[in-house]
Amino acid sequence: MKVGVSFINSDYSLEETIKRIDESDADYIHVDMMDGIFVPEKNYEISDIKKMFKETSKKLDVHLMVCSPNKYIRDLAKIPSIEYIIIHYESHRRPIDVINMIRHTDKKVGIAINPETKVSHIVPLLNHIDEVLVMSVKPGKGGQKFMENVLYKVETLKELREENGYHYIINIDGGINADTISLARDAGVDMVVSGSYVCKSDNYNERIKILKGN
Ligand code: DX5
Ligand code: ZN
Repeated sequence: MKVGVSFINSDYSLEETIKRIDESDADYIHVDMMDGIFVPEKNYEISDIKKMFKETSKKLDVHLMVCSPNKYIRDLAKIPSIEYIIIHYESHRRPIDVINMIRHTDKKVGIAINPETKVSHIVPLLNHIDEVLVMSVKPGKGGQKFMENVLYKVETLKELREENGYHYIINIDGGINADTISLARDAGVDMVVSGSYVCKSDNYNERIKILKGN
């Protein structure tokens, strides 16, 4: 199980949190970008992201909770540590256009779906993407309760991948902790995002180890 750690909800300062994740066994730093329009909260600009990860060595999984994600791609593509750029299916009229923009960079492309969005909406996109991010909370805030009723989507995505030979990884985001990890694992995710469970602890690796299951 791969683990991406989200740092928006932490007991430590932003700098200290990022340093702790970077020094941990996390596979990715999960970067939540929010514009105050797609979700009510607003946080970082691309210039902040550049500064924040100047000295880190982990790969970044960037989750764009923004309207017009197309406007972010060119600048994000210049940040070397980014591996995945994830856009929300609900954030653009023609997600395939943004997917194609990302595919013209050297970044991998992900599609996130809100809890109420059905997998059937993204079926035509599945052949073009490297990651599906299944939201298990309403996007916007850390520390919310895991929504078990999204787990069937993980199973559907796994079946579709097998039937069609697609290559995307399945990631799940929101409310992942020591109790909910087994539900996510049993449903068949390849990766989880965890925020408060890891960052509100004084031993990040202990928590990451529990999530990884080894
Ligand atoms: C929710 C974000 C998540 C969040 C996860 O809008 O996309 O990445 O920070 O935090 P926890 O694990 O606390 O739910
Ligand atoms: Zn996220």
